[in-house]
This record gives sequence, C-alpha cells and structure tokens, in this order.
Amino acid sequence: MQLISQTAVEGRVGPTFARSCPQLNASGLTDLHVFAKGQPYDLYRELREKAPVVWVDEPLSGAGFWALTRYDDVMKVNGDPQTFSSQRGGILMVTPRPEQGHPLLTRASLDAMINMDAPWHLELRREHMAFFTPKYLEAIKGRIADKITQLLDAMAPHAGEEIDMVEHFSSRLPLFTLCELLGVPEADREKFLEWMHYLERAQDLALQQRIGTLQMSPDLIAFIQNFNSNVEEMFAYGRDLLHKRRADPKEDLLTAIAHAKLDDELLRDEYLDGSWLLIVFAGNDTTRNTLSGTMKLLTEFPDERAKLAARPELGANAANEFIRMVSPVIYMRRTATCDAEIGGQTIAEGEKVIMYYGAANRDPAVFEYPDTLNVERANADKHIAFGYGPHVCIGKRVAQIQLQEAYRQILARFPNATWTGDIDIAPNNFVHAISRLGVRLDG
Ligand code: HEM
Repeated sequence: MQLISQTAVEGRVGPTFARSCPQLNASGLTDLHVFAKGQPYDLYRELREKAPVVWVDEPLSGAGFWALTRYDDVMKVNGDPQTFSSQRGGILMVTPRPEQGHPLLTRASLDAMINMDAPWHLELRREHMAFFTPKYLEAIKGRIADKITQLLDAMAPHAGEEIDMVEHFSSRLPLFTLCELLGVPEADREKFLEWMHYLERAQDLALQQRIGTLQMSPDLIAFIQNFNSNVEEMFAYGRDLLHKRRADPKEDLLTAIAHAKLDDELLRDEYLDGSWLLIVFAGNDTTRNTLSGTMKLLTEFPDERAKLAARPELGANAANEFIRMVSPVIYMRRTATCDAEIGGQTIAEGEKVIMYYGAANRDPAVFEYPDTLNVERANADKHIAFGYGPHVCIGKRVAQIQLQEAYRQILARFPNATWTGDIDIAPNNFVHAISRLGVRLDG
C-alpha cells in the first residue's frame, strides 16, 4: 500500500498554454496576511468579472495555478475527478513536503482520503458513511441541543459584558459533536481545543520557516516547542485510540476507521494518522468558523436576524445561507491529469487548478444580490461551500444541524446578541479562521 505522501507531486511550472483572460494581479490569493482581514471579496469579484480563469504565480513552490472564481467552473472541476485529480498533488495550494513544517503533520496532511482518487477514495469513504446517515445523526441531535443549552447557560451570567464567542461557544460545540461521533472519552476532550489552536497556526509557521522570515525570540521558541509537542501528542493519542479500537471494537466512527481497508489490507499507521488529522481538523474548524461568522453576519444584517427570530421555521434555509456567506473552506486544489479546457482556457496536464468557494458562492449568475444575507433565499441550498462530486463534505448534515440548532437557541434566549466589532482572524488562506470574536449578549 503506497503512501500518497511519497507519490504526490508539486504542480507543473506553467502556464503552458496562452492565457485566455487578461492577466490581472491576483497575488493577494497567496498572501496569508490578506486573509487575516477576511476573505478578499473585492478581489474575487474583480477576477470573476474580468479574469475568471486567471494564472497566479505561487512564489513558494515556483509552480503557479489557475484560480477559478465562477460557480459553473468550480462545479465543472469538482464534478470531473478523472480529469482533475485530488491524489496527484493533494488538495493544498503547495504540496506539503516533510522538510517544510513538522514532518508528521506534513505527511499526515497528505495520507488521507481527501487526497485520494477512485478506487481508494471510495473504499475509505464507504467505511465512514454509516456514521453520517440521517438516521444515525437523528440520534445525536438531542445531545447536540442539550450541549448548546449548557453552553448558553454558562454564558448567560456574562450578559451585558463583552465575551469571546470563540472561546465560550464556537470552539466548544463542534468539538463536543465530533467527540460524540468519534467516541472520544469525556475526560480527553479538552486537549482537542489546544491542538486546534496550534493547527490553525501551522500554515503561517511553515510558510515563515520556508521564506526565512521567522524572527527567533524566546516567545517564538517557546511557541514552536509547544507547537511540536502538541502535534506529537495529537498523533500519539489518535494512533493509540485507533489501535485500541482494533483490539476492542465499539459502535463508533473510530472503530470504522480502525477497521477500514485499502487493497484488502488494514490501514498502515501513516493512513491512520492521516484519517485522524482529517476528521479532527475538518470536523472542528469549519463548523467553528461558521458559527462565529454567523454572529458577525446577523449583526451586519439586523433585519434578517429579526426575521429569523420571529420565524424559526426559516432555520434550515438560514443555516445554508450562513454557510454560503461564510464559506469557511477558502479553496480546494486539483491537478489536471491531461490537457483540458475550463471556461475557454486550456489547462495543461500537471497544472494546478484552485477552486475558490467563497467567490463561487457569491457569483451573481447564481445568487441574486450575493453579498446580502437573505435567510429566505430561494436557492440558498445551491451553495457549494461543502464542495460537490465524490469528495462532497461527508459532515455537511452534521454542520447544518449544529448551526440551525445553535441559532435557534441563541435567538430565542438572546435576540439582540451582537458582535462588538472585535475580531481576530488567523493568517490562513485555506480556512477562514476566526480565532476571537467579541460578542455582547443582551440580558
Ligand atoms: C460548515 C462546515 C463544513 C464545511 C464548509 C466543510 C467543507 C468541506 C469541503 C469543501 C469538502 C470537500 C473537499 C474536496 O472537495 O476535496 C469537505 C470534505 C470533508 N469534510 Fe467537510 N466541511 C464542513 C464540516 C465538516 C464536518 C462537521 C465534518 C465531520 C464531522 C467534515 C468532514 C469532512 C471530511 C471527512 C471530508 C473529506 C471527504 C472526502 O474526501 O470524501 N466536514 N468538507
């Protein structure tokens, strides 16, 4: 069983064929600090209108990519995995290499099903599915609702004060839900919060290491030491738990992963690490940032908040509209397996293609007044924040349940809860990562 981390290749240094769109400056897409101010919606708009398939130089790897910002182009690439592979170079803008960043982390970020094509991808995804069916999820809905009530009870005494929503709510709910799905013992759950804190900084740290801009200070050295020990602890914990499930199976997602097979063999430890990282990261971070981003949106669109508070039956549609507007996964990459055409541009075999979900989800060709929150939007469920095609998010229903129930309860108890304007966003151009959000709950 070969490892993807040993076979994945960086994209071809292009562009090979003549550019069909004007060459606009899209270098902001590779600048993490641009994303620390929020997603660059103005740049997305300009690209979508004038250069929807634009070549972007990528300074770190030297291999640039085609950036897609139109809905139809993103759908086309997602829907054609034979031509646009996840496995050839992985789903990240720059193919991770062990010498860049913590080797365990870089390797595991490739050895996971999100970076696989058929047939392996299907084999592994099938094993996860039993824990994401509507029937199974119906059973954990009640526990999610109880957890939300518990978190809001703990926040209620702070009414009138500014509190950090990420710390008190958004980081805790997805963690609880994921641990319920995985079957992680209660006592171990707090560790996850710390692991997530370090994982969100991994991209920035690896980048600075690579370009040599890390200014070593005692604080930074301590941070890196903590980073490394947290990464090691996270993998050791996951591997141990998965091996225990092999010896002592239970009715949970961890047991399913522990018994999954590729080419009729149980997963190698490297694939256990990769599966563990994928589920822990994908299950936590995305939902966490949508929960926080929604509070910001409801403050910016108070009429929509009032409408939703008055008509809770709009909750399911509103959850989709929140996910469309926040689009917490900024992009996914594919690599062309042959020469192909997208939106009139010829892409050469081996070139990277990057799909910008936040841009596609605000394409006015599909969504009327796309920058406006509209909880009654008739086609809110057409958003592609969860991707599309064989890799479409396996946890989409889990995320929707959490968002819908969270805001049903928040608006019922604190109808005037507002974002105070304080926000910190981590420098990360893969996930829109809100690390602090000031919120004031009403009495
Ligand atoms: C708002 C919340 C979420 C968003 C926006 C989101 C987004 C995405 C996207 C865009 C993909 C597609 C990757 C691709 O095309 O290569 C994906 C895949 C995935 N997501 Fe999510 N996700 C969310 C929540 C979750 C949750 C709650 C879980 C687990 C509990 C989860 C687990 C996964 C996994 C395991 C994959 C890989 C699926 C595969 O490769 O077949 N996600 N997600």
